[in-house]
Amino acid sequence: MFWSKIFLPTLKDSPQDAEVISHQLMLRAGMIRKVTSGIYTWLPLGLRVLKKIENIVREEMDASGAQEVLMPMVQPRELWEETKRWEKMGPELLRFQDRHDRDFCLGPTHEEVITDLVRNNVKSYKELPLNLYQIQTKFRDEIRPRYGVMRGREFLMKDSYSFNIDKDSLNESYLLMKETYKKIIERLGLEYKIVKADSGAIGGDASEEFHVLAENGEDTIAVSDSSEFAINTELLLGEGEDINSLQGKPSPDGTGTIEIRKGIEIGHIFQLGEIYADAMNANVLDHEGKSQTIFMGCYGIGISRLVAAAIEQNNDDKGIIWPEIIAPFEVNIIAIGFGKDKMIAQAAIDIYDKLSSMGYEVILDDRNDGFGTKMKDAELIGIPINIIIGKQYTEKNEIELRHRDGQSSIGMIDDIETIFEYFKKENN
Ligand SMILES: Nc1ncnc2c1ncn2[C@@H]1O[C@H](COP(=O)(O)OP(=O)(O)O)[C@@H](O)[C@H]1O
Ligand SMILES: [Mg+2]
Repeated sequence: MFWSKIFLPTLKDSPQDAEVISHQLMLRAGMIRKVTSGIYTWLPLGLRVLKKIENIVREEMDASGAQEVLMPMVQPRELWEETKRWEKMGPELLRFQDRHDRDFCLGPTHEEVITDLVRNNVKSYKELPLNLYQIQTKFRDEIRPRYGVMRGREFLMKDSYSFNIDKDSLNESYLLMKETYKKIIERLGLEYKIVKADSGAIGGDASEEFHVLAENGEDTIAVSDSSEFAINTELLLGEGEDINSLQGKPSPDGTGTIEIRKGIEIGHIFQLGEIYADAMNANVLDHEGKSQTIFMGCYGIGISRLVAAAIEQNNDDKGIIWPEIIAPFEVNIIAIGFGKDKMIAQAAIDIYDKLSSMGYEVILDDRNDGFGTKMKDAELIGIPINIIIGKQYTEKNEIELRHRDGQSSIGMIDDIETIFEYFKKENN
């Protein structure tokens, strides 16, 4: 991809209404643009990151044995009446009518639709356990959409639902999803905590949240300073108590003392038990031929929110510092004087072709701007490796490799493949 062609409108200054760093940087780096409150368009650069995260989630879900489906975004009122959530959900559920005056809503989550699918198509315990997932746009009419895609009204989620014959099997599916979520977040290279949580509107028994630790996190979590223990402070505090009263107290698990951290909830797993299946009559025949209510679990991970969370953890005053695995491009070639100097242009294109044919995702800055502008934009969009080619090349046959983290080295252009791979390894 060439900079002169890609639709990448970067901004020098932070837009006024962007409060947190990820929101500012996503706007400045030309990743997203606001359409209306809590609703965004993803531009090419942002979409590349979103898709990379989506694919990592998909790979790990597939590896866990879960199967991908795609449910509709529009859901009929009747299904929501069965679970009584048509009333319970309140104004977050966006309702509307079709031309026949029938009531519908935009799916904020899919327990009703998936339970309907399974009750109609699964008859025996032999077909369980079953774990179905989708990666899909959700709509929740959030009272306070904010921080860009971090708390949007329309957002991309991976949601999955397990169907089990009993509590033990549900527990196994739950633990498998917990491991899968750990793998996903570890692959993304993010620092996180698994936090005991409130089940909220979804209901059910056990529930844990995955939080990416970040100063701008909306949630306050209490973590032990010497064990894995972490709990959402919502669960520890009574009415009117404030958070300071927790600080330095002994950790509820008996190990260490409490520290208060800020977190961004990026995933949430629940053991729903029988509540949905009971309400919707989702039964199977057990091994004795008796009808048995299905046990369910549900598991969500916020894909668009993960993009913002990754930026909250990986930035400096110049811009984003992408973890290699989700960087929109792996290499940025900064060609200084591309339009004026044929030798530089040709050398830059050669490097571009070589690295592309090695399988790297490369972007070439062929614009007519000077080094300063190009470097500023490069640092803003945060590509891991920059290759700078300019006067030094025409004079001494040298190019510079500069990592977004600050390391740099000079190399001769003739052996770019070897130099590049060596530099990449050194900086990993
Ligand atoms: N408004 C939102 N904007 C972006 N992502 C969201 C939003 N609401 C939820 N998510 C993501 O979807 C995941 C699953 O949502 P869920 O736990 O059902 O929502 P909530 O915690 O708001 O009740 C969350 O962990 C989060 O990553
Ligand atoms: Mg949640």
